[in-house]
Amino acid sequence: MFVPLERLLNLEEGYRQRFLIKGLPIVLMVIEGKHILFEDRCPHQGASLFQGALTSDSIRCPRHGFEFDVHTGKAVNANCPELKLLNPAYERDRIGIDL
Ligand code: FES
Repeated sequence: MFVPLERLLNLEEGYRQRFLIKGLPIVLMVIEGKHILFEDRCPHQGASLFQGALTSDSIRCPRHGFEFDVHTGKAVNANCPELKLLNPAYERDRIGIDL
């Protein structure tokens, strides 16, 4: 089932928004033109990454500073499980996720 998150015309560079879909926290970002979706739970201890500092390739968890590659989900400065990336889905003029 397609769950719409945002209209495509609103997805400008630097876009960042948090959604709660059926209890699942999700962050949608636009980084270098790519639509990045991930579960908003740090794989370390579950903190939200929504306010995390961003470089072109990684986001830093505000709680303990672990960084995760937003393209692969891999931790880049710590031995930690991967950030759970989600696949964007598209329907008409919307981006969303398939549940
Ligand atoms: S909870 Fe994110 S680095 Fe610890």
